[in-house]
Amino acid sequence: MNEVPQTTPADDALLAEARSAAAQAYAPYSQFHVGAALRTREGALFTGANVENASYPLGVCAERTVLARAASEGVRPGDVAAVAITASPCGGCRQWLLEFRVERVLFDHDGGVEIRSAQELLPHAFVLDE
Ligand code: THU
Repeated sequence: MNEVPQTTPADDALLAEARSAAAQAYAPYSQFHVGAALRTREGALFTGANVENASYPLGVCAERTVLARAASEGVRPGDVAAVAITASPCGGCRQWLLEFRVERVLFDHDGGVEIRSAQELLPHAFVLDE
């Protein structure tokens, strides 16, 4: 049986930010709105949503949006305290979360909230330095 996830007040605040961010999704093709919120160890907050495209595979997931926004402002692997997402991250996004060594990934799943490290979400992952 899975342990009942223990969210902290900071987790709950980040999940609330992710839910608000989902309202900004540009998802005219799937109508599936996803929001993500990232908090750095220094306490900076970034949000993102999925952005779709008429050429479907070019769409960007909410997780990649938020990680790209944060990285563009100088956030680097190891700087991220937590990422909250309104959906279970897809395989590609798990690889992105792993790149940034996110140890606390919170996401809505099956009516509850899961808390996992990026490594747990992507075991035996591809890395360049092996
Ligand atoms: N999506 C995300 O934003 N994150 C995920 O991890 C799963 C899928 C988006 C992509 C697409 O815009 C929509 O959800 C439906 O797949």
